[in-house]
Amino acid sequence: MLSQQALKENAARAALDYVLPRIDPDAVLGVGTGSTVDLFIDALAAHKHRFRAAVSSSGRSADRLRGYGIEVLDLNEIESFPWYVDGADEVDRALRLTKGGGGALTREKIVASVAKRFLCIVDESKCVERLGKFPLPVEVIPMATAAVARRLRGLGGVPRERRGFLTDNGCGILDVSNLDIVDPVALETTINNIPGVVACGLFAIAGADLALVATQSGMRELAPGRS
Ligand code: A5P
Repeated sequence: MLSQQALKENAARAALDYVLPRIDPDAVLGVGTGSTVDLFIDALAAHKHRFRAAVSSSGRSADRLRGYGIEVLDLNEIESFPWYVDGADEVDRALRLTKGGGGALTREKIVASVAKRFLCIVDESKCVERLGKFPLPVEVIPMATAAVARRLRGLGGVPRERRGFLTDNGCGILDVSNLDIVDPVALETTINNIPGVVACGLFAIAGADLALVATQSGMRELAPGRS
């Protein structure tokens, strides 16, 4: 039986095998955040001559990339790039995601939105029938924390402030449990529209284009419309 760590390593290696043949040496590669992505970055290091530079969704990943001598560009310098590779906390069959366990959700959403395609890499424990078991991270402007928490309670959620944590944007996170996520697109829109919310960790309006899922019996590809 493979450990979760071994599954994450398999997902990271599969992402490398998938993406490298699909980019050219001039390409910029989008890199997300999290423990699975850390492994992806570690694997990427030996292949840094196969792409020009990276763009990253967090200071944590940017530091790791630079540590391997991989150039990290500011997103403002780039119009578009072919692939964004990132993990997730939950993935459903339609490749809608919950993200933000590591607190980088807003930058992840921004960087993913500029990429042509989003490749999600997970171990099989992240695959769910319905999003919502993982408490939904919501990034909030600090002065709006209480106001946003009240609105989230009004939606049936139980928000809990992530104490002692500030995002790369200097904001806080509310982790919201108990949400009944019947319609992820509608809920994402509703939460995004609460004044004081910077972004919510639902990636449903724009989910992933492809997921590589590491399972006990090997890698599985998930694409929308396929099961
Ligand atoms: C970071 O903010 C998150 O969105 C991560 O992508 C997500 O939490 C997955 O992280 P792991 O790869 O560490 O499980």
